[in-house]
Amino acid sequence: MAQRSSFVVVANRLPVDEIITPDGERQWRPSPGGLVTALHPVLTEHRGTWIGWSGGDGPAPEPFELDGIHIHPVPLSADELERYYEGQSNATIWPLYHDAVETPVYKRRWRDSYRAVNQRFAEAAADVAAEGATVWVQDYQLQLVPAMLREMRSDLRIGFFLHIPFPPIELFMQMPFRAEVLRGLLGADLVGFQQRLAAQNFVRLARHLLGLRYEGQSIQVDGRKVKAGAFPISIDTRDMERLAADPAVQARAKQIRAELGDPKTVILGVDRLDYTKGIELRLKAFRELLADERLNVGDAVMVQVATPSRERVEHYQALRVKVEREVGRINGEFGKVGTPAVHYLHQSVSKQELAAMYAAADVMMVTPLRDGMNLVAKEYIACRGDTGGALVLSEFAGAATELRQAFLCNPHDPDGVKDALMRAINTEPAELKRRIRVMQRHLRTHDVARWARTFLAELDADEAENAAEG
Ligand code: ADP
Ligand code: G6P
Repeated sequence: MAQRSSFVVVANRLPVDEIITPDGERQWRPSPGGLVTALHPVLTEHRGTWIGWSGGDGPAPEPFELDGIHIHPVPLSADELERYYEGQSNATIWPLYHDAVETPVYKRRWRDSYRAVNQRFAEAAADVAAEGATVWVQDYQLQLVPAMLREMRSDLRIGFFLHIPFPPIELFMQMPFRAEVLRGLLGADLVGFQQRLAAQNFVRLARHLLGLRYEGQSIQVDGRKVKAGAFPISIDTRDMERLAADPAVQARAKQIRAELGDPKTVILGVDRLDYTKGIELRLKAFRELLADERLNVGDAVMVQVATPSRERVEHYQALRVKVEREVGRINGEFGKVGTPAVHYLHQSVSKQELAAMYAAADVMMVTPLRDGMNLVAKEYIACRGDTGGALVLSEFAGAATELRQAFLCNPHDPDGVKDALMRAINTEPAELKRRIRVMQRHLRTHDVARWARTFLAELDADEAENAAEG
């Protein structure tokens, strides 16, 4: 029987990905993305169990310990990888929930696979959770798990957190198995979102689609109360500050600037290579500023680090072609021998290297068309120490609600993006330092530990309320 735990997190991703090398050796490397960045410190603190997929399409490795976390891998077959993960999760739900910035694809066989895999995750949680345990289900890949789990284990306290945006009713209604997804989520006691508006969308949707009554953020479901709320996620701010202040990281930051030719302005982009992130529009803004001679190569250089992501999904393949074409075009038109205008890395880098890049960059460009939060924006601020720096931030990133001292822009308006970048470059250093300090103060109090604490306290409070009323 599996080792029982009183705190269980269920997420599609584990914090590490299993890699089988060509000579058959098993290796683990950190998984990509904001969900893992946020949850890792939380789980380390709570010493709970993390149920998730280990990255391949073979049998699941045996459970193991990592940084005090009990890791419980769940297998996916090659077929499920294609249908549940690449299909239903990342070609249907991901684009639909991000304002349909790419057209969502709907396929029946993908939905069947999504159901089967959600059931497997729910069963794993039911096996591992101790009597009365708290189970916290994460993100859009596992929206059916709360109801499936409640069906098997009514003794559990079940929370759900959506890391990505929740769409307005009109968009959600496109989804063929929309009522099933909504009922799946309503299996939780508390459903958390990044933004207040998303929580409101959800509550209204419950009335619109299922005719359920609600009061405030509380929905009545089969005699139970299901609460919705906003819990903006964050980073381990102190850890990031410490890392950036490390002399080795600072020395590397200097070296990066030197390797870039000690330009006046280093402009940085760091993202998963995802079409929601607005990488192309950022490159285009830079190209037009060079063409308009508002910027010059040598004075300004752009570094774009793009982690490979979901590489077999068509939308992602098309994006890679477009981004790489744009980088080639900019360097072809404006680069000089030994002085490219854009340095493009299609790779993951270590946390240390990333911190050094943040420390080396005068301007950070975070320009998503839509993003649940965007932790890169917060990491940049935390890594700046007292050196100032400027964050150009899309109004369509959840982070824009909190980081009001950034240079906010509308990513759909190319001239607005160019102007925000130029303002960031031309603002007085003293004013830049002031802005960064305000945002740093905010992030020190609003860190990821507070996010988890607030969510879990609300989940506890719900249980007390339900018990008192029942
Ligand atoms: P998302 O979750 O959509 O990927 P976030 O900005 O919220 O977006 O989180 C991305 C996380 O992945 C951050 O913690 C960031 O540091 C990390 N990351 C992004 N690009 C890279 C990269 N090239 N190498 C290593 N880590 C990266
Ligand atoms: C976003 C999603 C996460 C996901 C991450 C990386 O942060 O909200 O659920 O884990 O991207 O994407 P991947 O598909 O590689 O897990």
